[in-house]
Amino acid sequence: MVQLAGACLVQSCLLLLAGAGQSRGPSGREPAASCQLRGKQSELNSFLWTIKRDPPSYFFGTIHVPYTRVWDFIPENSKKAFQHSHIVYFELDLTDPYTISALTSCQLLPQGENLQDVLPRDIYRRLKRHLEYVKLMMPSWMTPDQRGKGLYADYLFNAIAGNWERKRPVWVMLMVNSLTEVDIKSRGVPVLDLYLAQEAERLRKQTGAVEKVEEQCHPLNGLNFSQVIFALNQTLLQQESLRAGSLQIPYTTEDLIKHYNCGDLNSIIFSHDTSQVPNFINATLPPHERITAQEIDNYFRQELIYKRNERMGKRVKDLLEEYPDKSFFFAFGAGGDQENSRGLLNG
Ligand SMILES: *[C@@H]1O[C@H](CO)[C@@H](O)[C@H](O)[C@H]1NC(C)=O
Ligand SMILES: *[C@@H]1O[C@H](CO)[C@@H](O)[C@H](O)[C@H]1NC(C)=O
Ligand SMILES: *[C@@H]1O[C@H](CO)[C@@H](O)[C@H](O)[C@H]1NC(C)=O
Repeated sequence: MVQLAGACLVQSCLLLLAGAGQSRGPSGREPAASCQLRGKQSELNSFLWTIKRDPPSYFFGTIHVPYTRVWDFIPENSKKAFQHSHIVYFELDLTDPYTISALTSCQLLPQGENLQDVLPRDIYRRLKRHLEYVKLMMPSWMTPDQRGKGLYADYLFNAIAGNWERKRPVWVMLMVNSLTEVDIKSRGVPVLDLYLAQEAERLRKQTGAVEKVEEQCHPLNGLNFSQVIFALNQTLLQQESLRAGSLQIPYTTEDLIKHYNCGDLNSIIFSHDTSQVPNFINATLPPHERITAQEIDNYFRQELIYKRNERMGKRVKDLLEEYPDKSFFFAFGAGGDQENSRGLLNG
């Protein structure tokens, strides 16, 4: 059986639940759509693996970018496999309202606590200021297309950042990461995973999930306080540099889309150029901070990649054994680190 490479990592998966598309696709840049380097699209690798049994079952690697950016590049064999499968499994059940409420409560601070009580004063103040800036900028970040679809800046801001003072710092950190201009511009189109879930529902396929929200959410809550404060501080520093114009975010999502459309699995899974949840491992960090960054990186790798792969692999195996006469289509995130680094939440 195929190893479940990378899987859809928590933030990126959970992001889907908030209902909006997400990506770092930049504006004003050529879409990294086509794969000019090689031959015909149909001859490229696809992210489809067949599990040889009768009837066959499939693994399909998805990514969390607006589906319109990749759909035309997904080979026919993958689309056929999806159409012909009886049962479609995702990492999370995106169509179950319980998934959303479980996510919301998992992100909240304990009853009666507020971020202001929890965060160091300097961090709280900078966070608040940054969110005020985002709120102010949001109308100018949105595209005419988004406005044409009736998406309003206030609504979007509240959908992503409403209730931020009640969220756990780690989720606020992820949220801040998803509140950049390029991310905002790509809201409103379902990401590929969500699109497949909607299609499965439309085609009245049986659907299911191999994971529970808690299994994705709890590990993130397991970072300890000093690690979370470090991460939030770094995230804010990065956003502040961005605001001051002294830093440009690398367009990692564009690269991801390009690799995906080119069937370049190795780049998707193994590329480390976008390290973990924002880029904490930064060559200019002083040594003791680099250690903290590395510890966070290791923690996520262990909890969100290795342990999950094992857990999900076991559930897949059980399903295949329990229903030998059904054809399954397992749609899981194809990326490893990259997905982890970009997922960032907006519930
Ligand atoms: C957090 O975890 C790191 C690494 O395990 C450890 O060095 C540090 O002392 C911990 N901090 C707190 C506040 O528990
Ligand atoms: C945030 O990070 C900067 C730079 O690494 C450091 O000087 C500062 O003390 C940190 N602030 C907090 C509150 O941890
Ligand atoms: C790297 O870290 C330093 C100090 O925390 C910060 O000033 C700089 O903006 C960071 N660079 C990136 C690309 O995040």
